[in-house]
Amino acid sequence: MNAHDSDRMEEVLRAHGWTMGEAASECDLVVLNTCSVREKAEQKLRSEVGKLAPLKAKNPEMVIAVAGCVAQQEGEKLLARVAHLDLVIGPDNIAELPALVNEQQGGAPPRARTVFDVDAPRFLAAAPRAGEAPVSAFVTTMKGCDERCSFCIVPYTRGPERYRPSDEIVTEIARWVEAGAREVTLLGQTVDSYRDAALPPPESDDPDESQFPHLLRAIAERVPGLRRLRYTSPHPRHATASLARAHAELDVLAEHVHMPVQSGSDRILKRMIRRYTRAEYTERVRRLMASRPGMTISTDIIVGFPGETEDEFAATLELVRDIGFVGVFGFKYSPRPFTPALKLVDDVGEEAKSERLARLFEVSEAQIRAHLASLVGTRQRVLVEGPSKAGAALVEGRTRRNEIVHLEAPEGRAVVGAVVEVDVVRANKHSLVGTITSEAAAALPPADDRSRYGPRRKRALPLAG
Ligand code: 5AD
Repeated sequence: MNAHDSDRMEEVLRAHGWTMGEAASECDLVVLNTCSVREKAEQKLRSEVGKLAPLKAKNPEMVIAVAGCVAQQEGEKLLARVAHLDLVIGPDNIAELPALVNEQQGGAPPRARTVFDVDAPRFLAAAPRAGEAPVSAFVTTMKGCDERCSFCIVPYTRGPERYRPSDEIVTEIARWVEAGAREVTLLGQTVDSYRDAALPPPESDDPDESQFPHLLRAIAERVPGLRRLRYTSPHPRHATASLARAHAELDVLAEHVHMPVQSGSDRILKRMIRRYTRAEYTERVRRLMASRPGMTISTDIIVGFPGETEDEFAATLELVRDIGFVGVFGFKYSPRPFTPALKLVDDVGEEAKSERLARLFEVSEAQIRAHLASLVGTRQRVLVEGPSKAGAALVEGRTRRNEIVHLEAPEGRAVVGAVVEVDVVRANKHSLVGTITSEAAAALPPADDRSRYGPRRKRALPLAG
């Protein structure tokens, strides 16, 4: 979501004549986009902002802005605390960035602009250009969150849920595909709570039933050129039977879902106000897993939530084994401003949190290793996303699930953006190595100017948080 917001900021600035600089020292404007979901991200901001002070001393004309959730959370207070800061701008005010910067360049006093667009929600449409689109693009479907998970700051930094009209979503996806993108990941804080009056009504009168499955169908039908569709992050509450049906029916959907569980203990889930039990989560995820052969699930887990006992943590480990997650983003609980959990005592010590996180990763890493090893010797369809960091002649892509595969690029062929058959020959710690089949290589078009793609977005790996 943050990477996506940064792209929108880049776009609105470009539209006003700005270009991207190489180093902060040579820039007239520095925008730091921030996350406040855990305290660590906030500490990072403090150190980054600190580094800019000497640059600003040298170049007093430089405008420094802090955007994103820390901006939303702190507002004016941030201006008071950081003397060399000019602008504080919330996630809903991105469109105003060029005008606000202009004001600063004209000598206006420092300004904080953090207003939610609740009455008239704005969704900045991406403006992809052919040859500059990444193979895999992000598209926003909703913003904000109506859940009240007791640990989470998002409802306070991103406001209430607002849904983007499905027509706009479909149009933007079609534009990305026209510009060359092959895969789209739908983005939303609770992406599967989606509603839009223009779509058919929810498939059941279950209050948790949303129109997200209808959105997926509309995209599949109306953008036939899209090769793969992913979404993140769903809330288990809306993972109903109709979502599983959509997975069974729509070939475009990836055979992987990231479904945050947070804990395997019912008492902790209740204290987290997650609004499901372990049994309900298990049932919903199993239903999704049954919708397609080979479907994999990854998750988010918080360790050391207030009051979490050793037995309750053991229940989480047991759930990780039971579901067989092949990707776990694990986090130590960190108290956040405004959140209901602040009333609970943060009583699991730092050492116990670290120890639990380490044990969680031991289990999840073993599962990932076993899963990747099980794929060696199989043939996979890989969507090639771009050059690989693993070597100059290598490219990398992902399977229909979510495994990263490195492979040698066939010489003189346009392989980036293609879906190719690959024989998996080896498993690394977090990825696979494969060779493209000779038939697949021969079927690729020759490399030319039309086979150009823009830079890829950094993707997080499920490692210690
Ligand atoms: N402490 C630790 N982890 C958190 N997350 C959200 N809030 C907190 C918090 N206060 C984690 C959750 C969520 C992911 C994006 O970040 O696991 O799914």
